[in-house]
Amino acid sequence: MRDDLTAALLTWYDGHARDLPWRVPPGSGRRPDPYRVWLSEIMLQQTTVAAVRAYFLRFTEIWPTVTDLAAAEDTEVMGAWAGLGYYARARNLLKCARVVASEHGGRFPDTEAGLLTLPGIGPYTAAAIAAIAFDRPAVVVDGNVERVMARLRRIETPLPAAKAPIRAAMAELTPDRRPGDYAQAVMDLGATICTPKSPGCMLCPWRDACAARLAGVAETLPVKAPK
Ligand code: ADE
Repeated sequence: MRDDLTAALLTWYDGHARDLPWRVPPGSGRRPDPYRVWLSEIMLQQTTVAAVRAYFLRFTEIWPTVTDLAAAEDTEVMGAWAGLGYYARARNLLKCARVVASEHGGRFPDTEAGLLTLPGIGPYTAAAIAAIAFDRPAVVVDGNVERVMARLRRIETPLPAAKAPIRAAMAELTPDRRPGDYAQAVMDLGATICTPKSPGCMLCPWRDACAARLAGVAETLPVKAPK
């Protein structure tokens, strides 16, 4: 069951992965650059993919490696960040780059625990980088993943109490093979098909297994916290 679901999703992802500048195409056999994965994840906190794209391209053009970024002047980096908002992220970004350059030889740690020791990297970001850059079976849960899991398993508990069963549902489905692609596939499913309003259930690789769709309640999940 688990293997059927993950296999169906990975097959869907092979044909429908979004083309994002920090990714490598699925099935290319290449791993993405951990620096680019880290930079994208920091930028994507509280900012949309559409807004991040141009900033990401500009940053990686000016500073192609973490060592280049570590050597930048604070004012240059803050200037390039202008418009993205949440400026604490930019300050932590530079702090993190300098720690990776000076204490880790310019290479990001390749485990969740190692990544968590770095400035600006919390549990979500550590899991995302471990999965996407290093193909570790970390449990990656962002807002898109929450929605997909709440629907697939018809979790009707309101958030934030729903977070524990949602995480458990994601953990149960995270495969040992291609966990990085799996995490990004759930994100893409949430961003392109399992959308908050009018989800495209007929196009979904999980349509026949989705408990919320079968009950006709997909659009009502997840239930938001009572105000
Ligand atoms: N949102 C956060 N991380 C992402 C990623 N790696 N791909 C697409 N959307 C994301």
